[in-house]
Order: sequence, then structure tokens, then C-alpha cells
Amino acid sequence: MDVDPRFILWAGIAAASPLAIYLLHWQFFMSANVCKSLELLIGKTILITGANTGLGKQAALECAKRQAKKLILACRNLQRAEEAARDIRKATEFQDGFKTEIVVMKLDLTSLDSVRTFCAQVNEQEPQLDILVNNAGVFRCPYAKTEDGFEMHLGVNHLGHFLLTNLLLNLLKKSAPARIVVVSSFLYKQGAIKFDDMNCDRSYGRLEAYSSSKLANVLFSCELSRRLKGTGVNVYCANPGIVRTNILRYSIPLLVKMLDYVVGMFFQDVTQGVQTILNCIVSKELENESGCYYTDCLKEPIIKSAKDEVLAKKLWEYSEMVTGLAIQREQ
Ligand SMILES: NC(=O)c1ccc[n+]([C@@H]2O[C@H](COP(=O)([O-])OP(=O)(O)OC[C@H]3O[C@@H](n4cnc5c(N)ncnc54)[C@H](OP(=O)(O)O)[C@@H]3O)[C@@H](O)[C@H]2O)c1
Ligand SMILES: *[C@@H]1O[C@H](CO)[C@@H](O)[C@H](O)[C@H]1NC(C)=O
Repeated sequence: MDVDPRFILWAGIAAASPLAIYLLHWQFFMSANVCKSLELLIGKTILITGANTGLGKQAALECAKRQAKKLILACRNLQRAEEAARDIRKATEFQDGFKTEIVVMKLDLTSLDSVRTFCAQVNEQEPQLDILVNNAGVFRCPYAKTEDGFEMHLGVNHLGHFLLTNLLLNLLKKSAPARIVVVSSFLYKQGAIKFDDMNCDRSYGRLEAYSSSKLANVLFSCELSRRLKGTGVNVYCANPGIVRTNILRYSIPLLVKMLDYVVGMFFQDVTQGVQTILNCIVSKELENESGCYYTDCLKEPIIKSAKDEVLAKKLWEYSEMVTGLAIQREQ
């Protein structure tokens, strides 16, 4: 049988190209860096928001593997949180040594009342809090407001966590050396803080709102680190990169589902995606750093607009005012 040599050539190219694309994407899209620290978390109590799925759940699992004393999964849905707790217990079931105590607690960041109730409970029942991970977040959701009237991205990603962190600060200070890990995103670079339209009443863009809330995360972590100087509580801002999680729930869900495999090729999975967050949680090398931003487990300089101390202070004061923290302090 005669086979056209051109056919063989093209068939060869067709067969080899997925492999070539795969290798190329590995080169350009994947972070090669993993958390190199082997430190354990013995004796540590760690609180993670949005820990029922995605990066939060993976971070919780990593902490359990490193023998944390206690994990608090702060989630808006207790059933989903219990399921995650069960998964983590199961995954660390046959691990040698210490078993982490895992508790779930209700925290809905769309409600400042929920944040206050949650923090009151934590402050009352926990003798220590060594590491706080502000991980929960919404991404590109349709226009919506929180219970307190804030635009959803601003409310959940920034303001809810702003109040949460402040209400847990005394406990963190008491537990020093302690860490606060703020999960931001590289998309902060596209964000802008528009004080004249904070809740997007005049114009709303999903990606813009998300990016701005992530810029707020960066500004918050910088300002917080300045305010915490000398307290032994360090602040780390982590950018996970592009990770395949449920975060795309509002973004072309059908297409994403159909192209699951292809999409998966270009994204990190959670075990890779969590590395920068994990590094900020455990790495001893970072023990004297605070107020920095990390990508691929490495410090990355932040862009000029995010370094603006006046802007950071103004955002802090705005956040204090709208969350009622300022009033609380005066009383
Ligand atoms: N995945 C990425 O590519 C990527 C890239 C850069 C940054 N990040 C950041 O990484 C963090 C985690 O994202 P992910 O990818 O793991 O997303 P995810 O899979 O969508 O998980 C988000 C978590 O936040 C929780 N959450 C949402 N709204 C909440 C609320 N009102 N109160 C309490 N919890 C709430 C979710 O709870 P439910 O399950 O109940 O909804 C879920 O546990 C986010 O801050 C995100 O901005 C992710
Ligand atoms: C952090 O600072 C302390 C006190 O100055 C020092 O002993 C320690 O080696 C430093 N750690 C790192 C990782 O640089």
C-alpha cells in the first residue's frame, strides 16, 4: 500500500503538536516554584476564610499535613464546610504524629453583622490565633450588593476581611509572632480605587470591580503592615497566579465545562496554586518580612499606584468609617 509521504509528515506534526503545546505552556504558564520550606505548624492555630473549596481548602489541607494544632474553617455554608473538614481529616487520617483539630464556623462576608458575631465568638473561645488567612473571594459576579449596601467584590473581598482582621488583631498580637496572609491577585494591577463611586452605582464592570477589590487587598496589606510594625504580627500578600478552581462559576460556565481539559492545561491545579499562600503561612525565611507581595513564592515589587501610602491611608479611613470600626473605637 502506498502512503503519501506528505500524509505521514502532516500526521506526525498533528500528533506531535499537542505535546509541543503542552511543553510550551508548561514553560510559560506554570509556576515552577513550590514552597521549599519544610517547617511544621506544631502548636499553631490557623483561621482560613472560604476554606470549603479551592485554594482555601487546599491551604487548610496543607496546614493539617504540617500538623497544625487547630484549624478554623470560616465559611458561609456550614454543610459545605463540614464536608471539607471531613475530606481533610480523611486525607490526613494515616499521617504519623499529631492530628489537627478541625472546626468549622459560620462566616458570611456579605454581612458585617456576621463578621462581628463570628469574631466575638473566636475572641471568646480561642486562647490564641497564630495565622489568619484572608482567602475567601468572589470573582466577576453579576452586579449585586451586600447586606450593608456595598458592591459585592468590594464588600466580600475587601471590607468584610478588613473588619474581620481588625476585630481579630488583639488576639493575633497576643499570639505573636503571628501572621496575616492576604490572598490578592495579579489582576490588582488593573484595579483602581474610585472614591466617588466605591459601590459602582454609576458604572459597573465585573472584571474591573474584581481587580479593584484585589488592589484594595494590596493597599490594605501594606497599610496594615505599617500599623503593625513592632507588634510581631507580619502581613503577607499572596498572588496565587491562575488556578483552576470554582472561582470561574460566573465566567462562561458552560464553555469552561466543555473545554475542561483544554482549560485545565493552561491553569495550575490547586496543589500548585496554593504554594505561594503556603509559603507565606509557613516559611521561616519570611519571618522578618512584612508588607510585601509574593508571586511564585517569591517577593515581587508592586506597581507604583499600589505603593501610594496616601491612597492606602485614605482607603483605610474609608473602610474604618463604612464598616463602623471607627465608631466602635471611639466608644
Ligand atoms: N483561582 C484563581 O485563579 C485565583 C487567581 C488569583 C487570586 N485568587 C484568589 O484566591 C482566593 C480563593 O479563590 P479560589 O480560586 O479558591 O475561589 P473559589 O473556589 O471560588 O473559592 C472561594 C471561596 O470563598 C468563599 N466565599 C465567597 N463568598 C463568600 C462570603 N460572602 N462569605 C464567606 N465566604 C465566601 C466561597 O464559599 P462558597 O463555596 O460557599 O461559595 C469559597 O469557599 C480568592 O480571594 C481569589 O480572589 C484566585
Ligand atoms: C530575623 O531576625 C532575627 C532577629 O534579628 C534573626 O535572629 C533571624 O535570623 C532573622 N531571620 C531571618 C530569616 O533572616
